[in-house]
Amino acid sequence: MKDTILRKFKEVYGDTEGVKTFFAPGRVNLIGEHTDYNGGHVFPCALTIGTYAAARRRQDKKLRFYSMNFEKLGVLESSLEDLVPSKEAGWTNYPKGVMWAFGQKGMEVTEGMDLLLYGNIPNGSGLSSSASVEVLTGYILRDFFGFEVDNQGLALIGQYSENQYNKVNCGIMDQFAIAMGRKDNAIFLDTADLSYTYAPIALKGAKIVIASSNKKRGLGDSKYNERRSECETALAELQKVVEIESLGDLDQETFEKYQSAIQSEVRRKRARHAVCENQRTIRAVEALKADDVALFGQLMNASHVSLRDDYEVTGVELDTLVEEAWKVEGVIGSRMTGAGFGGCTVSIVRDEAIDAFIDQVGKAYEARIGYKADFYVVEVGDGPGEI
Ligand code: GLA
Repeated sequence: MKDTILRKFKEVYGDTEGVKTFFAPGRVNLIGEHTDYNGGHVFPCALTIGTYAAARRRQDKKLRFYSMNFEKLGVLESSLEDLVPSKEAGWTNYPKGVMWAFGQKGMEVTEGMDLLLYGNIPNGSGLSSSASVEVLTGYILRDFFGFEVDNQGLALIGQYSENQYNKVNCGIMDQFAIAMGRKDNAIFLDTADLSYTYAPIALKGAKIVIASSNKKRGLGDSKYNERRSECETALAELQKVVEIESLGDLDQETFEKYQSAIQSEVRRKRARHAVCENQRTIRAVEALKADDVALFGQLMNASHVSLRDDYEVTGVELDTLVEEAWKVEGVIGSRMTGAGFGGCTVSIVRDEAIDAFIDQVGKAYEARIGYKADFYVVEVGDGPGEI
């Protein structure tokens, strides 16, 4: 891959003098969905697929961007004096947002760069290609300018840029999973205080399989913000009767006791998901540590049911992928992953069942939905680095 991006860099920018090459992964969340903005736990891991970059510093303020995923756009030029989000800037809003965010945090980016990117995360799949670009940009800026910021700081800057520059109100999970990724490990992160531990993903005789629904996300982002505010309102209602800082502070029993304080059935369901999903995530990690992969899988399945019935973020595409997966012998667990409303499912599938899984789920999906799903057998990889 390094050769490919260097060759392309030369073709696009004329020569490769002073160029360095980098990689940042994508991520998949195994369990703990829509808990990261509710003070709960998440359990994602970095993947070996992600975003590659070839980059070099310039001596002026110019920014030149080229993506091998959007070749038709050619070289997009901008400047450090123009770090303002715009529709025309397209994908470059992500790296530009990170440059802006560094400045906001007192780390001024003083010179521009020539940047070329290539991502092998399937497009729009919900495996965090944007967070991957954000963390990658942060990593490159730290390398070029010697900023004193650790990888956790890169995650926070990435999230800040996404929230403030790109106006997507996401939580910390994606950027954290990418910046802190570790080969063959998932990250058990408590989003209330960012404390975390690594847990080995040793799925003896099984693999993680991602199915992409290929459903384009449309209303997704607005629904995401809607869920966030439903949870915030439910929290405020609960805080009138019980002393908590976030929904993640509640266990199921305490929630049952006080739930009548929530004034609408819809908000009660949203809060129930946030509370139960957090508890499920804690139990799932315990199960994995005790080598009980079967229980881990059951909790993944329960997570999907809760996201479908209480949080209502699945939709017919993700439900079809998951419900068909549950029918296949050798599937240990299957659920939607990421924000929902399209995107991907994640399944743990025994090695000998993977072909049948792809065949059966793929056929049933196409018959019901009218277009194909894509399948990826993935590996858990490291965080960002120079390559
Ligand atoms: C998106 C957001 C994350 C998280 C998930 C849902 O991926 O970027 O912060 O909220 O949705 O778990």
